[in-house]
Amino acid sequence: MVARPEPRPGIMQIEAYVPGKSAASGVAKIHKLSSNETPLGPSPKAIEAIRSFEHLELYPDGSATRLREAIAAKYGLDPARILCGSGSDELLSLITSTYVGAGDEGIFSEHGFLVYRIAILANGGVPVVANETNYRADVDAMLAKVTPRTKIVFLANPNNPTGTYLPFDEVKRLHAGLPSHVVLVLDAAYAEYVRRNDYEAGLELVATADNVVMTRTFSKIYGLANIRLGWMVGPSHIVDAVNRVRGPFNVNGPAMAAGIAAIQDDAHVANAVVHNEKWLAWLTREIEALGLEVTPSVGNFLLIHFPKDAGRTAKDADAFLTERGLILRRVDAYGLSGALRLTIGSEEANRLVVAALRDFLKGV
Ligand SMILES: Cc1ncc(COP(=O)(O)O)c(C=O)c1O
Repeated sequence: MVARPEPRPGIMQIEAYVPGKSAASGVAKIHKLSSNETPLGPSPKAIEAIRSFEHLELYPDGSATRLREAIAAKYGLDPARILCGSGSDELLSLITSTYVGAGDEGIFSEHGFLVYRIAILANGGVPVVANETNYRADVDAMLAKVTPRTKIVFLANPNNPTGTYLPFDEVKRLHAGLPSHVVLVLDAAYAEYVRRNDYEAGLELVATADNVVMTRTFSKIYGLANIRLGWMVGPSHIVDAVNRVRGPFNVNGPAMAAGIAAIQDDAHVANAVVHNEKWLAWLTREIEALGLEVTPSVGNFLLIHFPKDAGRTAKDADAFLTERGLILRRVDAYGLSGALRLTIGSEEANRLVVAALRDFLKGV
């Protein structure tokens, strides 16, 4: 047989990431609650920045200077320690390819974000999974997985899809237990939603430790998922190394313009926080009152657990809700086949979900 090109070891073990569904056939109105997008949309100022963007024929500023300055001003950071990416997904991949090679190990928790596994395998590394306790990352379990081959540890805080939060003293304990050559990635995609917010302390750890980076995104509270924009902050030597791996024009001009406008629109973000806080609490209460278990969440989404009885499972609920145009996220790929993840939506969507779940459980 003629030899054909073979992907590197690890590549064919990757289960390609499957995004949340966005369609349901034969339904008049769809409520997409499957990808943790904001029901408020982006800041009108960000939309205007894209509309008025000129000179698409010119390459963008490859070092994203103005955007980094805007982020730095907002969070009191040094712009030289910030790197922007085409979504934080790109940065997670770039960080991994910078530090993980064949046979190196990368640790993440049981129900951790799927991109970590993909990034580790894509670089020939070995994904190492640490058990969680009550759907929350367990620092001792993570530390117990460290070996001389460990190169990277990922912690999403809050985690997706569980919505659980690890208080900062626990994050610090994780960091203190890691060898200093291991990169600790704090994935803070949902940071702006967290009310019990000790991200200041997280940023302080990033500022003072030599092996900690934080990734952030414009996809969630800023409502700019479609234009792919994220950033990371870390020690200069990590930023310098990751910057060498990055494509020269990985962030486009309209995205940077929108990001700058969005990060300066404090009122829009504040509205989104208020909306989320109100409806997160309401949905948790109402869904629990229906007799379903809900994992307490600090993000803009909820993990709802369904019974195992035939006709009442998460899969059945997904089919039932989809018929009503309510699209939630199956989370089987996260080892959570008994649950669905619900993004906090508009008032209309949230009320429809509760009504539909009530009918589903009644067997209507
Ligand atoms: C925990 C977590 N990290 C990172 C991302 C990636 O976001 P983006 O690439 O849109 O910045 C997501 C998106 O769902 C996420 O849930």
